[in-house]
Amino acid sequence: MGVRYSNERWKDVVTRVSVSRGEFALERFGSGPPLLFVHGFPLDRSMWVSQVEPLRASYELIIPDLLGFGESRLTDCPERLTMEDLAADLSELLEALGIPSATFCGLSMGGYVGWQFWRHHRTQLERLIMCDTRAIADDEAGQRQRELTARTVLRQGNMGLSDAMSQKLFANKTRASRPELIESTRQVIRGTSPEVLAAALRGMAVRPDVTSWLEEVDVPTLLLCGVEDTISTVDEMRQIQTRIPGAYYTVIEDAGHMSPLENPRVANSAILEFLSTV
Ligand code: MLT
Repeated sequence: MGVRYSNERWKDVVTRVSVSRGEFALERFGSGPPLLFVHGFPLDRSMWVSQVEPLRASYELIIPDLLGFGESRLTDCPERLTMEDLAADLSELLEALGIPSATFCGLSMGGYVGWQFWRHHRTQLERLIMCDTRAIADDEAGQRQRELTARTVLRQGNMGLSDAMSQKLFANKTRASRPELIESTRQVIRGTSPEVLAAALRGMAVRPDVTSWLEEVDVPTLLLCGVEDTISTVDEMRQIQTRIPGAYYTVIEDAGHMSPLENPRVANSAILEFLSTV
């Protein structure tokens, strides 16, 4: 896993799969019902390191870098990387792997992609696990800020974004007690091309408000949210829960926006309980 969140027991065996827009780098572990893990912005697959050992015993884990991120390759970076296109890439990935359907577990931007996966690739979806994510779109101020950040990254590189995001993603306790996580995050962001970062920022800025879809979500759904998440807050995620029929919701203590990485014990037990219940 290089400079990323390291776990000596996580063997670094990368599979490469070509799809229309490029080539996925992914890792696969275990056997059983498939779980597809989709990282947030501006991260890569290594953020799921703490899910591997507890879940691989009973499930097949498919953990890719989204095209353009980590070690995956995007052949031509568009001006905007839309959530819909990222979902289509993943649909192709499952097809190429010969996996008819999977449980989709996404964090934040990975969750924005998850809503699109449900909407456009429903036959490939078994369940949704949505971590620290949002259903509403950006407001105008948010869109302006994304555009400003995209231009800054294109002009000055990714240093400023890596310093700011690596702090914003985590709870106070994590920042104080696990500086190595903050540093790994900074390194992951620094390893991502400014062009891809800008395209993803612009793609997130135009993502639709999916609130009106929530009542139609017809797959078992689990929501997880770090109690100190300032990007997708506990209250905002509770609103999502009230709209999705039968959705489960766990608030993760001692965690910010990166709840499965910051408090894997609680996050993994919520995921395992959900998977064994539905
Ligand atoms: C993420 O973690 O994917 C991002 O913070 C999402 C966002 O910026 O809206």
